[in-house]
Amino acid sequence: VERVLITSGDDVATEIVMGAGVIRSAGSVLPDRPGRRRVAVFAQPTTENLARGLAESIVATGCSAQIHVLPDREAAKTLQVAEHCYLWLNSIGMTRADTIVAVGGGAATDLGGFVGATYLRGLETVLVATTLLGAVDAAIGGKTAVNVGGKNLAGVFNHPARVVIDTAVLEELPAALLIEGSAEAVKAGFIADPELVALYTAHGQAAPIAEVVARAVRVKAAVVSEDFTEQGSRAILNYGHTVGHAVEHVSGIPHGHAVAIGMVAAGAASSLVTGFGDEAPQRELIAALGLPIVAPPVDPAAIESAMMLDKKRDADGLRMVLLEAFGKPIVTAVDPTTVRAALRAVGIG
Ligand SMILES: NC(=O)c1ccc[n+]([C@@H]2O[C@H](COP(=O)([O-])OP(=O)(O)OC[C@H]3O[C@@H](n4cnc5c(N)ncnc54)[C@H](O)[C@@H]3O)[C@@H](O)[C@H]2O)c1
Repeated sequence: VERVLITSGDDVATEIVMGAGVIRSAGSVLPDRPGRRRVAVFAQPTTENLARGLAESIVATGCSAQIHVLPDREAAKTLQVAEHCYLWLNSIGMTRADTIVAVGGGAATDLGGFVGATYLRGLETVLVATTLLGAVDAAIGGKTAVNVGGKNLAGVFNHPARVVIDTAVLEELPAALLIEGSAEAVKAGFIADPELVALYTAHGQAAPIAEVVARAVRVKAAVVSEDFTEQGSRAILNYGHTVGHAVEHVSGIPHGHAVAIGMVAAGAASSLVTGFGDEAPQRELIAALGLPIVAPPVDPAAIESAMMLDKKRDADGLRMVLLEAFGKPIVTAVDPTTVRAALRAVGIG
């Protein structure tokens, strides 16, 4: 079992616990806390059995544990679902001494984190990430949200007390979820860990998942420890997201695929602006992971207006995360010519 800490000043904000089989042990999932009497567990339809196993192990410690199953995927991330959760928590008598655990992919941990941050003005919250995307990204870093007429528009920053990643669960993921999550995992390598890039380059999707996850988690934990509320350096995590979000928004392709395309575009912009020399190897690695390197057919004007709406725009024009080399990101304003070249590199325009 490996532990990584997210710190806030001198304090530990979140303890991340990773290992094979950790979800079956209440002691690995729950922080020590005298006085806890109830644990409320949110699950997805796909993680209900994992949640049941966990609940049994919690009950064996003398605490009560009840399960509430959320709608799958984005359907969970609504204010109506949050309200159902609050009413259910009322009905089981939760108090501020008790703990909320969300077991699932990023949709479940975003919603569970939101409910945990707001119910009774905040209860101890534990996120058990069961997808690769959740483990390396969504569950790490304390951003919670629901969708209100646009993705993630209402939410709060709130550190979960613990994040639990059972690598044996991740080993069993269907290929499509593994491929999608690998986009955010390899992104962590591109921005901060050349050894992770080397690991994926050597093994592709056969790279040992425990090592991939540990490395990507360490990258995100370090960035979040430095800049929790995204005042500055946390922005490097948006590598590939300026173009990626626009493509995701306009075409509806999965987030990981869109980020992959966005990283190819950012690689092209990097080679123009910084002289980044690994544009081609980066693109080849993304393709070797089974991720797309060109956008589906989209209207270039729609992509450009989606990019301008992106919150990363500021007074200097569009800002992008670029690489000088693997592990050396910069955040910089980019001119329209560079943006057009980046889009052309992924077949847009
Ligand atoms: N808070 C953040 O910082 C942050 C960062 C990135 C993404 N996100 C959010 O994360 C969400 C995407 O995450 P996701 O891809 O994990 O989505 P998801 O939670 O919708 O999961 C995708 C699918 O995998 C299923 N699933 C979960 N665990 C499984 C398992 N062990 N085996 C088989 N199937 C399983 C789910 O039921 C779902 O059908 C989006 O809502 C996105 O906005 C949040």
